[in-house]
Amino acid sequence: MQDIRIELREDKREKPQDMSKVKFGKTFSDHMFLMNYDSQKGWHDARIVPHGPIPMDPGAMVFHYAQEIFEGMKAYRTESGAIQFFRPFENIRRMARSGERVSMPAMDEDMFMEALKKLVEVDKEWVPSEEGTSLYIRPFMIATDVGLGVHASDSYLFCILTCPVGSYYPEGINPIKILIEDQDVRAVRGGTGYAKCGGNYAASIRASVRAGKKGFSQVLWLDGVERKYVEEVGAMNIMFKIDGKIYTPELNGSVLPGVTRKSSIELLKDWGYEVIEKLISVDELVEAAKAGKLEEVWGTGTAAVVTPVGWLTYKDETFEVEGGKIGEVTQKLYDGLTGIQWGKVEDTRDWIVTI
Ligand code: COI
Repeated sequence: MQDIRIELREDKREKPQDMSKVKFGKTFSDHMFLMNYDSQKGWHDARIVPHGPIPMDPGAMVFHYAQEIFEGMKAYRTESGAIQFFRPFENIRRMARSGERVSMPAMDEDMFMEALKKLVEVDKEWVPSEEGTSLYIRPFMIATDVGLGVHASDSYLFCILTCPVGSYYPEGINPIKILIEDQDVRAVRGGTGYAKCGGNYAASIRASVRAGKKGFSQVLWLDGVERKYVEEVGAMNIMFKIDGKIYTPELNGSVLPGVTRKSSIELLKDWGYEVIEKLISVDELVEAAKAGKLEEVWGTGTAAVVTPVGWLTYKDETFEVEGGKIGEVTQKLYDGLTGIQWGKVEDTRDWIVTI
């Protein structure tokens, strides 16, 4: 494994007084990790440097053809003051799969983990301890070859940023309003839906802006082929409790394989719930809601954690779920997952990596 050069910042930056109040993703810690790749040298020049601008040629390919991938993960401070990651190798491996989809090189897994540990160690004072807070970690990779021909870049920059965060939605753990989007689509089968690449998110912004103007927090995407099956929310996967059973859209190639989704399914099954991964049509959902069988809806994601959905709107019809309150399973899942993440519940599954 390569050594990581560390260049500490000299100026002292003010930390927010109460980290639970910072706007998600707006306050960055003191340092960032950088590493370069090219086909001659492979991965090289691993370094932790002060967080700041990256000098780039405007002809770099990432600016033109969006050859870019990213991840979202978190480090948590436990009550004893220790710092731990939640299933980091799931993110590391998903980033490699995303990279494969857009022809970008994978990072060595142990090197990636070492970079995460060192960076968080250097900025450990930025790992918050207030209730509901964590250090959000954003690894990303961009194509740096200069030129306007469309082809795979020969050189890449890998970077890890970190930010102290509270909740992703201003609502916190209170239920949010979701609009089922019936105009734009986010991804199609054979496309990049399962990969965490910036282009997927760019494609989602127009619908989110439209929905935001109408008071919705986010949109729930329908499949890009028939516009019939629900897929995901973009910032989170979606789960429904219908008539006592838990349903979530199957991973059909256009849905992101969420780490929180996977962990939620594993926990729910361990607790004895029946969890069914399948294509779920919007008609089925509407029917269940009208029959009073749509008992709970929630989203799962690293940033979103477990977020209850209190209202679902489809074509001007709104269905209130669980009286607009957080449901029992949603709360149990939130407590179960965050309990493990913050070290309040024993980790019996080997999900935790400490630094
Ligand atoms: C995450 O949950 O970490 C994500 O990457 C979603 C992002 C849109 C905030």
